[in-house]
Amino acid sequence: MTNTNSALHGEVFYPAAEVAQGARVPDWEALAQRAAADLEGFWAAEARELEWYAPWEQVLDESQKPFFKWFTGAKVNIVHNCLDRYQAGATRNKTALLWEGEKGDVREFSYATLHREVCRFANVLKGLGVAKGDRVTIYMGRVPEIIVAMLACAKLGAIHSVVYGGFSVDSLAGRIADSESRVAITCDGACLNGKIVELKKIMDEALTRCPLVEKLIVVKRTGADVPVVAGRDVWYHEAMSAPAISDECATEVMDAEDPLFILYTSGTTGKPKAIVHTHGGYMVGIYTTLKYVFDLQPEDRFWCAADPGWITGHSYIVYSPLLNGTTNFMYEGAPAYPQPDRWWSLIEKYRLSIYYTAPTAIRGLMRFGEDWPAKHDLSSLRLLGTVGEPINPEAWKWYHRVIGHERCPIMDTWWQTETGMFMITPTPALPLKPGSGTRPFFGQQAEIVDDEGKVVPDGDEGNLVLLRPWPAMLRTVYKDPERYVRQYWGRFPGKYLTGDSAKRDVDGYYWIIGRVDDVIKVSGYRLGTAEIESALVSHPAVAEAAAIGLPHEIKGIGIHAFVILRQGFTASPGLSAELIEHVGAHMGKIARPETVTIVDKLPKTRSGKIMRRVLKARAQGLPEGDLSTLED
Ligand code: WT7
Repeated sequence: MTNTNSALHGEVFYPAAEVAQGARVPDWEALAQRAAADLEGFWAAEARELEWYAPWEQVLDESQKPFFKWFTGAKVNIVHNCLDRYQAGATRNKTALLWEGEKGDVREFSYATLHREVCRFANVLKGLGVAKGDRVTIYMGRVPEIIVAMLACAKLGAIHSVVYGGFSVDSLAGRIADSESRVAITCDGACLNGKIVELKKIMDEALTRCPLVEKLIVVKRTGADVPVVAGRDVWYHEAMSAPAISDECATEVMDAEDPLFILYTSGTTGKPKAIVHTHGGYMVGIYTTLKYVFDLQPEDRFWCAADPGWITGHSYIVYSPLLNGTTNFMYEGAPAYPQPDRWWSLIEKYRLSIYYTAPTAIRGLMRFGEDWPAKHDLSSLRLLGTVGEPINPEAWKWYHRVIGHERCPIMDTWWQTETGMFMITPTPALPLKPGSGTRPFFGQQAEIVDDEGKVVPDGDEGNLVLLRPWPAMLRTVYKDPERYVRQYWGRFPGKYLTGDSAKRDVDGYYWIIGRVDDVIKVSGYRLGTAEIESALVSHPAVAEAAAIGLPHEIKGIGIHAFVILRQGFTASPGLSAELIEHVGAHMGKIARPETVTIVDKLPKTRSGKIMRRVLKARAQGLPEGDLSTLED
C-alpha cells in the first residue's frame, strides 16, 4: 500500500494492486450502485448461494415496518448451511475448526466431525426435552463445546441465549430469568490468564434465583472439583457417550423469520434487553458480509479473536465462517499469557491469514513493544480487521506497520448487536483512512442528523442513522416489541437510530465518535451506566450512584463512579476499594470502575435525573454547558 493523498482528502492508504484485484469486489463503486438501485435483487442473489428447503415468496416485506421481514415464505435452517450441506462433498474433510487451549492443548474438527458432534449433542438436548422455540442459556468459556452447543440448539430450532463468560452472578441470573430457560449449559470452569474462572460456581449461585431451570449440562474443562446437584446436573461427556445417542439428528425445518437466538445487550435503562435474530435474513447478511469484507478464499485460515458470547462471536466465529466453508481458528486464553507474544505465536504456528480483533487489544499489545511481534513470522497474514470501538489512528498505524507489515489492509468494521452484521466497513478494494470505517456496506445508506433530525453539513458531528433495511437486522426486542419501536425507530421516524454520534467527511467516509446514550464501551464491551449504578446501590453503604465513562489509554473508556453514602457510613479509601470489588463481584470484572468517588451531592435536573454530562465535564475540567435545568 502506498501512502499518498491525491484523490481523497486527508491521510489515505490505497490498496496495493494485487490486493484490490484479488478481492471479490474489484469494483466497489459498481457493486455499491447495483445494490443501491436494486436492494432486493442484490440480497436475493446472495441468498441463492445458500440452500433453502423451500424458496421465498418475497425478499423484503415492509408492510408492517418497522417490523421488517426478509425471505418470507422460505423454509431454511442456518445449520443446514453451516454443516449439513457439506456432508456429501469435498468440504466434509476440510478443517472447520482449529482450536488451541491456554495450556497449549490442541483440537481439530473437520466439517464431518463437527457435524457429528453437533448431531450427538442435539440428541442429548432433545433427550432433556428441548424443542423448537425453547430458550437455552449458554454460559461457557472459549472451548469448542460452546460452538457445538449453539449449533445444536439451532439445529433443533431452539433459541440460544449466550451470556458472556466474563459476566458474574447478577448479570447471569437476570438474563436466565428473563429468557425463561429450562435448560442451561456451562463449564466446570474456564482457563484464563493461568487461572480458573469458576463458571460452575457462578452458575450455581445464579440458579438459586432461577427456579425454572431444570437441567444444567456441564462441560468438564478444568477438572476442578465442582459440586454436582443430583437430578439437575448432567456431565456433557457422560451424556454424549451414552449408547443411545445417535450420530444422526434431523435438522428442524424453520420459517426464515423464526428466531435463531436472543442476545442480551445494554441499553439506556438498567434492564438489559434481548435482541432477536432470525434463521433466514441473519444467515444471508453474515454470510455475505464476511465473504466480501474479508475476501474469503478457500485456503484462508480465519481468526476472529473475540468471544462467542458477543455478537462478534455469534456472527463471525460461530456461524459465518461455517456458512462460507472456511477454516476457523479459536483460542481459549488471554492475549498476553504467559507472554505478550502468545497471539503472534498462534498466527505463526497455524499460518493464519485473516486476523480480526479489537482496538483495546491492539493498544494493550502495543504497550509491550515491537520486539514481541518481530520474533514471529507473520507472513501468512493477508488481511486485518478491527471492531468494537473507534480505533485511534496511532493504533491503526502500529497495527498496519508492525503486524500487517504495510501489506495487509485493515478492515475497520462498524456494527452492533442489533445490526447482526457489518454495516459501515471497507472491502479490501477501498482506499482506507486510519480511524474511519469508510462507507456503508452494499445496499446501505447512512446519514448524520442533528437532534431535530436535519442532516448536518459534512464534517459536523451528529446522530448516526441508517436509512435502508438489511437482512440481518434485529427483528424486535424479546418480549418487548414496543421498546423495539420506541428505541430504534421512534426518534427519527423511518430511520434506524444507532445511538452513536459520528461525522461524515467530504469523501463520504464515516468517522464514529462514540455512544450518545447512557452506554459505555469499556475495552469494546458494551455496558449500561444504569446497570453499574444499580450494582453500586445494592451495597449497604450506598444511597445513590452515578457512573460515567472517561478516556482510558488502553480500554478506550474507563468507568468512573460517584456515590452518596447512606447515613452511618463514612468515606474512606478502603470503602471505595470495596465498592469497586462489589461491582466486579456482581456484574463481572469488565464492569469494575477505575475509581469510586464519594460525594455529598450529585448534579441533578429539577425532575431528579442525574446529569452525567455535567459530572463528565467536571471530571475532565471542561465547560459544563447548559446548566439551566440543574436543580441548584
Ligand atoms: C457499538 C455496538 C458489533 C460488534 C461489537 C460491538 C461501537 C462497534 C465499531 C467500530 C467505532 C464501533 C459503536 C456501536 N463500535 N464497532 N468499528 N468503530 N465504533 O457490538 O456491543 O453491540 O456495540 O460499538 O459504538 O454502537 P455492541
